[in-house]
Amino acid sequence: MKPRVYIETFGCQMNVADSERAATGLRASGYDLCQSIDEADVVLLNTCSVREKAERKVYTRIGEVRAARPDKRDLLVGVMGCVAQLEGEAVFEHASSVNMVIGTRATDRIPVLIERAREGERRVLDLGERGEQDSWDVSPVERHSPHVAFIPIIEGCNKFCSFCIVPYSRGREKSRPASEIVAETRRLQALGYKEIHLIGQNVNSYRPRVEDGLEGFTGATPFCRLLRAVAATGLPRIKFTTSFPRDFHPDIVTALEENPNLCDWVHLPVQSGSDRILKLMRRGHKRSDYLERIQRIKNSSRRLALTSDIIVGFPGETDEDFHETVTLVQECEYDSLYIFKYSKRAGTPAAEFHDNVPETEKTARFLELEKVHRAAQEKIYRSYVGRKLSVLAERQSSRSESDLTGHSTCHKVVNFKGDNSLEGEIVDVVVTEAKTNSLYGSLV
Ligand code: 5AD
Ligand code: SF4
Repeated sequence: MKPRVYIETFGCQMNVADSERAATGLRASGYDLCQSIDEADVVLLNTCSVREKAERKVYTRIGEVRAARPDKRDLLVGVMGCVAQLEGEAVFEHASSVNMVIGTRATDRIPVLIERAREGERRVLDLGERGEQDSWDVSPVERHSPHVAFIPIIEGCNKFCSFCIVPYSRGREKSRPASEIVAETRRLQALGYKEIHLIGQNVNSYRPRVEDGLEGFTGATPFCRLLRAVAATGLPRIKFTTSFPRDFHPDIVTALEENPNLCDWVHLPVQSGSDRILKLMRRGHKRSDYLERIQRIKNSSRRLALTSDIIVGFPGETDEDFHETVTLVQECEYDSLYIFKYSKRAGTPAAEFHDNVPETEKTARFLELEKVHRAAQEKIYRSYVGRKLSVLAERQSSRSESDLTGHSTCHKVVNFKGDNSLEGEIVDVVVTEAKTNSLYGSLV
């Protein structure tokens, strides 16, 4: 029987995409993939280190994995993803039962690394760079959904925001050739995928070495040209995330206005509303620059949903600074907002700053900002009641067997009554009820 590998994924969409690629490579090398620890010969944990809490989870999980299989002494455990890349050898010290540490650019080499561990090598470590010939191919069976697919367009980050570990865990920005991205979009379309997400830490910083595949497409930046090229395939729903404010050219909004299959949603993290804190965060944009981008989005001829990320309690954040964030959130009226308490990441510049905001104050600011955001969000969600949304029926709802759940083009979770035969279809739903973070409706 073929050895079976179980992959568990934490963190962002880039990790989901890496797990899909890892699974594709493993199957091509003669492994089977399985859905639980109980059946596995090899367990891979694809990890996240963006905040301390995420990182701590890894070590708890390694313990749980071992405890779940006391019968299987030869079970191999590998740590991949951001924690692996950042901690390297130290993972073996923290968790002696780990057999493999696989960095963020070693995905293609996983089958070989597992072979080495199977042959008895005690501590297999690979923190190397990608190979020139590395493949981005993902087999449809390994995708996280049969209807929605992630296409990485740019990896890594060159921005070095002072709080963020990503430039260290994922390395420098590297854009994929546009011809490859367009070809993958076409393949997915032929397979019946209804929605793709162009993903990357900063998608709008997309800058391939040569622009093959974008000939004939206009646009103020390579990303704007790529958006138009991908839209021209005719795939029904195209989303992209995450955008970076400094590189967010207004032509992106123009591209959305021209192409209905580019979805009506922009995720544009601001992190803080205070210029003083933005400077300490080394974001490279001011509050006014950000609000200018938002103006263009809000003034669009399409109603575009807007979401963001914010960090509260950054070192040195005063009541006045926090107040600036509150007023920015009031002004932007986000459809959705991810609020995080600042978490110190070793190796980042901000880790050297004196963190003078007590934990209780961070929590208080978190709760206050959440309240301010909820008020705006409730108003927005209520405004959808009575309106028709185009929804991709992704799967049966976990709450009720007679309900389907999916996302609207504006990336809201929409639940509605309907049977399984509709799964994978794009349907019109009239919203009847607004809940926190989701909408309920009925099929037209
Ligand atoms: N502490 C708290 N939140 C962070 N993020 C990134 N680094 C940190 C940190 N050190 C948040 C940012 C980013 C999101 C993905 O995670 O808001 O946009
Ligand atoms: Fe981190 Fe800033 Fe890069 Fe985003 S842009 S991944 S917050 S360094």
